[in-house]
Amino acid sequence: MKSKNRTDSQRRTNSLDFFRGFLREPGIVGSIIPSSRYLEQRIINAADLANARLVVELGPGTGGTTRSLLNHLPANAQLLTIEVSAAFVEVLDGIDDPRLINHCGSAADLEDILSQHQLPGADAVISGIPFSTMPDAVGRQVIDAVWRSLAPGGHFVAYQFRDHVATLARPLIGVPEIRMEMRNIPPMRVFRWQRPGNNKAASDPA
Ligand SMILES: C[S@@+](CC[C@H](N)C(=O)[O-])C[C@H]1O[C@@H](n2cnc3c(N)ncnc32)[C@H](O)[C@@H]1O
Repeated sequence: MKSKNRTDSQRRTNSLDFFRGFLREPGIVGSIIPSSRYLEQRIINAADLANARLVVELGPGTGGTTRSLLNHLPANAQLLTIEVSAAFVEVLDGIDDPRLINHCGSAADLEDILSQHQLPGADAVISGIPFSTMPDAVGRQVIDAVWRSLAPGGHFVAYQFRDHVATLARPLIGVPEIRMEMRNIPPMRVFRWQRPGNNKAASDPA
C-alpha cells in the first residue's frame, strides 16, 4: 500500500511539472498530461525490454515513462534519455538509478550523443517527441539518426497521437506495425519498426 501511495503521489507531481512544461512550450511538449500506465505497458511490450542491453528514450518529459522503463529493464542494461527541456532534465536527475544516463539535448543529435557517452548501437529507441508539431526536416533527421543508431534487429517505437511520423518515415525506413492504446488521454498510436539483422528475434508488439 505504501508503495502504491508513493507511485500515485509521484504521478501527481509528474503531472503538475509536466503541465507547467506544456504551458511554457506547448509545441515542443505536445501533450498536457503524461502517458498513462496502459500506454507505458504497451511501449514496454513493443520494445522487447526484457532482452535489451541499451535503450534510448527520446522525450522522457518528467520521467513517468522513464521510471516504467527502468522497472522492466534488466539489471545489467542501460537507459539513455535525451530531453530538450532543461527544466524536465532537472526532474529526471532526481531519479536514483545507476542504469540511467540523462542527457539534455535534441533527439536529432542522437548519434553524437551516443558517441559522447561511448555507447554502442541501441537495442531499442523509444520516442514520445511530437513529430507532427516539429518541422518535417527535423523529424526526418531524427528518424535517420534513430535508424543509424539501432543495433541489428533493434526496435524503433514511437507513440503518437497523429500518424505523421509514419508518413515521414515510410520513404526512409518503411511501413511500421501499428497498435492503438485507447486507455490514454488522448488515445495513442504505437508505431514499431525493426531494423534488419538477426541480433534479436521478432516479437509481437502487443
Ligand atoms: C509528449 S511529451 C512525452 C513525455 C513522456 N515521455 C510521456 O510519455 O509522458 C514529449 C517530450 O518530448 C520532448 N521533446 C520535444 N522535442 C524534442 C527533441 N527534439 N529532442 C528531445 N526531446 C524533445 C518534450 O520536451 C517533451 O518532454
